[in-house]
Amino acid sequence: MTERIGLIGGTGPLGQGLALRWGLAGESVIMGSRLQEKADKISLEINTKLGRKLILPLTNENCIQESDIILISTPFKFMIETLEPLIPHLTEEKILVDVTVPLKPFEKGKMVETLPPSDLNAQSATELLRKVIPPKIPVVGAFKTLSNSTLRDIDRIPTLEQDVFIFGKDKVAKNRVKEKAQKIRNLRPVDAGGTLSARHVERFTAFLIGLNRRYKTHDSGIKVSGLPHREW
Ligand SMILES: NC(=O)c1ccc[n+]([C@@H]2O[C@H](COP(=O)([O-])OP(=O)(O)OC[C@H]3O[C@@H](n4cnc5c(N)ncnc54)[C@H](OP(=O)(O)O)[C@@H]3O)[C@@H](O)[C@H]2O)c1
Repeated sequence: MTERIGLIGGTGPLGQGLALRWGLAGESVIMGSRLQEKADKISLEINTKLGRKLILPLTNENCIQESDIILISTPFKFMIETLEPLIPHLTEEKILVDVTVPLKPFEKGKMVETLPPSDLNAQSATELLRKVIPPKIPVVGAFKTLSNSTLRDIDRIPTLEQDVFIFGKDKVAKNRVKEKAQKIRNLRPVDAGGTLSARHVERFTAFLIGLNRRYKTHDSGIKVSGLPHREW
């Protein structure tokens, strides 16, 4: 059975980029939004680019019900309030994937940083999500260091020569997310360990945004050298 990917808050730039890349690989994606009309409009734009109807627009609630692997792709500060009413729709067979990055508001001339644990109520977004979501529902962190601009610009960047860090306690769930990551051409999934790795990965993203600003680009990403060529 093909597992369906759902994107809660998928109408944003990251969700659009991931939907487009998965669509190119022939994957079916459910684009969730608070507003059905917004999901309709953005899905139509992506389906037009794809030349196929692979992106299905739904409300966030219907998206979570219809999907097997669900990415939470709202801004971090709305992640918990968005998910809390949807928790009853989560089952043990589904996987919740956290892509959020809890950043401090940008200040000109200052380093880009993640929120401190006191503001976050945890050491990282994925740890917070893990605390809030019932333990029987697998929670995985992934896709946090990918740039929406790189994902969306398929003409300029046809293949992603990057790594995607996938982390979480549940190995089976991580493997299912890895299989989906591998559908995106040339993206290499890296087993980044358990949930606590979010503490590093979320900071990598802040660092990459700082590099983007310095080099006046939107495309920096990470490729780790020295890893053996083998499956994990
Ligand atoms: N942008 C990137 O390149 C990038 C890279 C790595 C990770 N991330 C992380 O991925 C997540 C999505 O990034 P993004 O740039 O796509 O975010 P975004 O555009 O700021 O938000 C994504 C979607 O979240 C929904 N949303 C906005 N405000 C909301 C609210 N108050 N309550 C519930 N939903 C709300 C909106 O969808 P509807 O209006 O349709 O409901 C919006 O289109 C963020 O957590 C970000 O930190 C982003």
